[in-house]
Amino acid sequence: MPTKTVMIEVTQKCNLDCVYCYEKYKADSHISFDTFFNIISYNLNLKDEYDNIEFVLHGGEPFYAFGVIRDVCELTWDLLWKKNYLFYTTTNGTLLTDEIKKWLIKNKERFSCSLSFDGTKEMQDTNRSCSSEKIDMDFFKQTWPGIPIKMTVSPKTLHTLSEGVIFLHELGFNIEDSFAEMGDWNESRDLPVLEKELTKLINYYLKDPYRKTSNFVNYPIMKISDERVRKTCRAGTDFIAYDLYGELSFCHLFTQVAVGETPVPSFSLECPIDDREECLCCPVFNACPFCYGVNFLMTNDPLIKDMTLCKFTKMCANATAVMYKMKIELYGPEILNFDRYKYSHFVNVLEKMYGVD
Ligand SMILES: C[S@@+](CC[C@H](N)C(=O)[O-])C[C@H]1O[C@@H](n2cnc3c(N)ncnc32)[C@H](O)[C@@H]1O
Repeated sequence: MPTKTVMIEVTQKCNLDCVYCYEKYKADSHISFDTFFNIISYNLNLKDEYDNIEFVLHGGEPFYAFGVIRDVCELTWDLLWKKNYLFYTTTNGTLLTDEIKKWLIKNKERFSCSLSFDGTKEMQDTNRSCSSEKIDMDFFKQTWPGIPIKMTVSPKTLHTLSEGVIFLHELGFNIEDSFAEMGDWNESRDLPVLEKELTKLINYYLKDPYRKTSNFVNYPIMKISDERVRKTCRAGTDFIAYDLYGELSFCHLFTQVAVGETPVPSFSLECPIDDREECLCCPVFNACPFCYGVNFLMTNDPLIKDMTLCKFTKMCANATAVMYKMKIELYGPEILNFDRYKYSHFVNVLEKMYGVD
């Protein structure tokens, strides 16, 4: 069923100072009840093709705005709407009082939380303002067992990437992990480290083949042999974002907390596919994310691709293919839910990546 994601900035305030955070212009401002509720009711009443809406409450640290979140959610739940909807937020987990936890447990079926936690406690402390001891990880695991932890890997924690992933898995979490965008990445220093860490991850997942894997060895390589497509994010189509004044923006990376006073240009989503020579001949083009926001923050133009993580992406796509291949050799194609058609598609992908296999 068609689902629209509506992101709403509820506060710009945060108590952490994460090493990679793209929100460089935080402020002590929260959304008002009226602005918040108007966004909800406008989108739930809209006559469009979407039957389902996911409201993503975004910060800063969203629980600084717990009072207004609680009031708006409870009023919304008290009223009847034609669309289905859910509330969802990502939190640093450090501000959850007993009162907030009680409210979250009571409403866990209609309000979900994902915890940001960057691997081992040492990795968390390195990236996220020494906050590991302030977080009740069990609370998140028990309240929303299916929701993955958001783990961000910075150049400072890359050398323990596999340790961090395995630590979180052994605690019982699935993981939604990614590189820190706009980080101080250095190819000659970091690529050999990444290669070692990916090898350790592959060895771990080969021993436990049914486990849902880290994104670092799960790039969307099956798209590689398809026709080239550039747009990989949902912004501008079924994703919209409001700032805390109720202004629509293309996505959260274009709001004031990220861009400051820099004017945001208008741009077309019909961006050129073959914009760079190295992209034109790149075998993993379709598995490579294209983020208008990161591009804007890094190159000053949403349509000019930021190349910082180019080689890192290629290495992860390669690791994904290697792991798929080894899993198939050890356990058969069924381990990846590959039927004959999907298996031959995978062979085409390998040919495209490496030439004839
Ligand atoms: C901006 S925070 C706001 C919500 C909340 N305070 C939290 O820490 O989850 C949302 C998510 O963005 C991630 N994030 C922040 N800066 C990032 C960057 N430069 N690259 C990738 N992820 C980033 C954080 O790790 C966190 O998981």
